[in-house]
Amino acid sequence: ETAELGSYKHFMEKEIFEQRKAIENAIRGRLSDDQSTAVLNGLNITANELRSIDRILLCACGTAWHACLVAEYLIERYARIPVEVEYASEFRYRNPPLDKNTLVFVISQSGETIDTLEALRESKRKGFKTLAITNVVGSTIARESDGGLYQYSGKEIGVASTKAFTSQIIIMLLVALYLGRMRDLSFADGKEIVSAIKALPDLIDETLKQADVVRKIAKKYSKFPDFLFLGRLEEYPIALEGALKLKEISYIHAEGYPAAEMKHGPIALVCPECPAVIFANQGEIFQKVISNAKEIGARKGPVILITDSPDEIESGLADDVIAIPKAHDAVRTIIDTIPIQLLAYYIAVERGCDVDKPRNLAKSVTVE
Ligand code: G6P
Repeated sequence: ETAELGSYKHFMEKEIFEQRKAIENAIRGRLSDDQSTAVLNGLNITANELRSIDRILLCACGTAWHACLVAEYLIERYARIPVEVEYASEFRYRNPPLDKNTLVFVISQSGETIDTLEALRESKRKGFKTLAITNVVGSTIARESDGGLYQYSGKEIGVASTKAFTSQIIIMLLVALYLGRMRDLSFADGKEIVSAIKALPDLIDETLKQADVVRKIAKKYSKFPDFLFLGRLEEYPIALEGALKLKEISYIHAEGYPAAEMKHGPIALVCPECPAVIFANQGEIFQKVISNAKEIGARKGPVILITDSPDEIESGLADDVIAIPKAHDAVRTIIDTIPIQLLAYYIAVERGCDVDKPRNLAKSVTVE
């Protein structure tokens, strides 16, 4: 194991830093020659079949479920197909009504998670086309689905998923782009998304350069008992993922919330011992998120801002700022994810936790 780690202390750290490579592997050979759409042969489904789809059901567990939530925004925005996201474990027992033109998509890094596998089997029993995104080649889910896309992220050893998550997002963006271009996404918009995808690897490197800044912030807050993670739109699932990462490896209680919902409950938690990590990036809702941050500051809650516009943050608003590069909306969640992974990682190290093998958790849950 030590040899494989190279200069890294833990697999989780190594896997966070491998995200450029994982993203490059996920997109290799999957962009069209005219750079306007994706080429997804593995889906094993005809263009006509895809055109008749009028609803998509996404099913997964844990971190992969968060990737489904991001995918919901991407598919609805670019392909304009209604998407529903289900916990695989709930889907099996809830028996939701499914329209005949529904496409079922499951996401599983290991391809062995029992609840996800059973959700896939149940969809197949009902006669639906099922597609899967998995990282492990030849895994049960990969074998049993009608088609799908491999992530090619390389082996993920750390129990807390990192590079597999961002790779799942980029693959779902390719799916959104592909479905969008079959419907009303224009050639120009398709090209814009492809260039955003191609720019991503360099942006990942740039974001990883913030590791030392994040490490210092982690040291400052490592003893705090509660954290809030707040984001809006597709950054809400990243807030959920930030909270999950912290819970998983640092054993600190954390909640992810849509920033504007904060005033309907979580604001009661705000106090000097409960820092809030907030995504405040340029766009329609930038000012709205900034006012949420002010509300927290006014109640003496420490504010850690993750932002692509550090120069526009008035002094005194944030206790700490993590600057990230400006990224296209289509890929921004991937950039947002890196600081929250690093934050959880460095806090866990600071607390002396067993980062790669957190208590009570398994890399793949194969019993119900
Ligand atoms: C376990 C792991 C998580 C993972 C989840 C789903 O709970 O600890 O990190 O997100 O399973 O795993 P999968 O292999 O289906 O993506």
